[in-house]
Amino acid sequence: MGQIRLGVIHESPKVTESSRQLLMCIKDRNYSALYLRISKLSVWITDHLDIRYSGHDMQLDGGIIRSLGFITTTEQLVKRIDVLQELENQGVVLINSPKGILDSRDKYQSLIKLKRRGLPVPETAVVETPMEAMMLTREWGNVVIKPVMGSLGLGIVRVGDPDIAFRVSKSILSINQPVYIQKYVEKPGRDIRIIVVGDKVLGGVYRINQTSWKTNVAQGSTVQTVKITSELEELSLSAVETLGLDYAGLDIVESSEGYKILEVNASPLWEGFTRGTGILPAGYIVDHLIKKIRR
Ligand SMILES: Nc1ncnc2c1ncn2[C@@H]1O[C@H](COP(=O)(O)OP(=O)(O)O)[C@@H](O)[C@H]1O
Ligand SMILES: [Mg+2]
Repeated sequence: MGQIRLGVIHESPKVTESSRQLLMCIKDRNYSALYLRISKLSVWITDHLDIRYSGHDMQLDGGIIRSLGFITTTEQLVKRIDVLQELENQGVVLINSPKGILDSRDKYQSLIKLKRRGLPVPETAVVETPMEAMMLTREWGNVVIKPVMGSLGLGIVRVGDPDIAFRVSKSILSINQPVYIQKYVEKPGRDIRIIVVGDKVLGGVYRINQTSWKTNVAQGSTVQTVKITSELEELSLSAVETLGLDYAGLDIVESSEGYKILEVNASPLWEGFTRGTGILPAGYIVDHLIKKIRR
């Protein structure tokens, strides 16, 4: 093998801060670092299967997928996953794997998998009739209705009134989106964000919010280090393993019945995590990728 070539895969025309850190860590370790926009990656089916970047030949040993881009159609999602899947088939080591990314991005699929594994998650359903949304709200009391694929706390609403749940879900269904509806978990003004790389929990932070029940850092939460108990560690590692991820950010709430996993992010942002813990995940992620390539 010549010099190992590693890509950081994103869609943003401007390199984001987490991508910048990853690229730097790759260069620091004397590998060649490429920033790749996912829309420019393609497989040309000719007399063989030809990986191209902006139409040019491309050699790659590994890649860290940071984002699939802002996806608006099924076709776009499928194309991007297809290309990544073929990269993987040709021996390019991708973290996370396209399959893992797809399953985690789909909050429904990931909760089904976690539940099947026996891990604690809130009561959740995805429905396509407003009647069911109304029934579930009556049954669960407070619910949150969120995009099946979403992030940063955007577009999530809390609803306590079954009639409002009916109206909200009707309008979501009118744009042909299924309705993800989840029991609201009473939590102590904070939740926990944990970062896992490989089989190691790097650490965790409380995300504390006095003004909003959404505790995303993007919603203005402050952060504070969490002591990682063995319970939190085991829970996080089994969730990440269940979803087949190499690195992840977990959102965990502390309910009266114990921890519940809200979601597992396959391309987590870590700015708040780093502020709270002083830990920089980028180096761990790059080292994990190299280890996998060498295996
Ligand atoms: N079922 C719930 N009960 C209580 N709080 C919730 C629930 N679902 C989401 N939240 C709050 O909203 C935030 C964002 O929800 P999350 O499911 O992580 O979506 P996103 O992908 O937008 O981060 C969580 O960090 C949490 O503070
Ligand atoms: Mg979240």
